[in-house]
Parts: sequence; structure tokens; C-alpha cells
Amino acid sequence: MLKTLFKRSSAEKPIIEDQNIPRHVAIIMDGNGRWAKRRGMPRSMGHRAGADVLKQIVIGADEIGIKALTVYGFSTENWKRPEQEVSFLMSLIKEYLQNNVSYMHEHNVRIRFIGHIHGLSEELQEIIAESEELTANNTGLTLQLAINYGGRDEIVRAMRKMVESVKSGTLQSDDITESYVSEQLFTKEFSDVDLLIRPSSDYRISNFLLWQLAYAEFWFTSLHWPEFTKETLLEAVAAYQKRERRFGGLQEE
Ligand code: FPP
Repeated sequence: MLKTLFKRSSAEKPIIEDQNIPRHVAIIMDGNGRWAKRRGMPRSMGHRAGADVLKQIVIGADEIGIKALTVYGFSTENWKRPEQEVSFLMSLIKEYLQNNVSYMHEHNVRIRFIGHIHGLSEELQEIIAESEELTANNTGLTLQLAINYGGRDEIVRAMRKMVESVKSGTLQSDDITESYVSEQLFTKEFSDVDLLIRPSSDYRISNFLLWQLAYAEFWFTSLHWPEFTKETLLEAVAAYQKRERRFGGLQEE
């Protein structure tokens, strides 16, 4: 399947090199509401269409050889939305997991959740635990679903944990290094993001992966998330491969 993607070589189609595939890609799945409104449909239809797209993109990311895909499903700030939209999103996430986890499992995808999961309903917490458990030993793409996630909330929680460890004498202040902090975050296994994708013409990070995006490359598109395809993902990866990443250093001679 990987070969098929690389072979598509018509002038309009993005070509990616099999070298230099971003290891960790993060996506802010934005524009569901606007997509629906433009079609005269309720916002909920946009979220539903967005969930369908996510399934395709997970498989596309795995085919390309991306190791981790982290997607923003519900932020710590999204609770401010009307109760009806919040409860729709919660049931959509539940339905998404119930309908797709076996499929992901068959495709060797490992599912992990990041965020304040204990702040979700008991029922959703159970489904989340089951999804993680079922797919725990899969060796393909790791899909990290950010639910009730906020970058600041994540950092605050990590700081509290570290303060407790210092107080109990199990951690010295000198032990607190950048790699130690990374390990205290929800994303401990896949921390640094290589490529951040945000559709829908908004150019901000919206409290997503604040620590992990330090040296990420950003790619934006005017497409709304429900219009996003595997082809769009290839386009983003192709653009990433043209970037020169210096991590604060100088270009290599
Ligand atoms: C942002 O678009 C999108 C969200 C807040 C929810 C994203 C959720 C999904 C794609 C559903 C499936 C999710 C999972 C994790 C299975 P918006 O509503 O802010 O759109 P707008 O900016 O056009 O209003």
C-alpha cells in the first residue's frame, strides 16, 4: 500500500519521499461547524462528517509510515459550548470508539488517550480503557486522541506531580530536566511533534500540545476538516519534507 502512495506521480499530486517521514503528526480537526453551516446543516452533521474523515486519515497516516498521530477531539475549553453540542460530541466520541476500535485493531493501530480522562463520564472512561487495553500491543500507528485536553492543564498537572515528589523527597530539583518534564506529560512516549496540521484557515494553536510543539513545523489549509482527504495529508507531508529544520542551530554545510 505504501508503494501505491509513492507511485502517484501526476503533476498535481504531491509526491513524498520515503525518507524523512514525520514521526509524530498532530492535527487540530477544525472547521466542522463552518462546513456544516455552509451546507445549511446543523453543526452536529459537521462533527459527524469530521469523525468519518478521521477514520480515513488514521489509515492514511499508517500507510505513509507516520508513527504517531495526535488529534484534538475535545479541549478543556470546549465545555463552554452549548450543552447540546457538548453532549452530542461526547456521544459521537463514544459511538466512534464503539464502531471503529475493532477496525483500528485489525489495522494494528494502537489507541491512546491524552487529557483529563477522569473528568469524563464513567461510561466513556470505561470505553476508553477498553480501547486502550484491546490495542495496547499493536505495533503500527499510535493514535493519540486528545479528549478533555488542554496544554496548560497538562503542564499544571505535571507541575503538581513534580512538587509532590520533591516534597516527599523522591525528586531533587536538579532532576527536573527537559526530558524529565516531557516524561511527566500525557504524551510521554511520543512527545515532540514534527508536523502540526490545522485546517480551516485559523492560524493559532488553541492550547494544543504547548510543550510538544516547540520545534514543530506548521502547515495550514483553507479546507475544512470534513473536506480533508488522504491526498491533503500527503500534501502536508510533502510540504514538511521541503522544510529545513534547524532546531535553533545553523544550516548544515
Ligand atoms: C473543531 O471544529 C472541532 C471540534 C471541537 C471537535 C472535533 C471532533 C470530531 C472531528 C469528532 C470526532 C472526534 C473523535 C475524537 C472521535 P469546530 O466545531 O470548532 O468548527 P468551527 O470552527 O467551524 O465552528
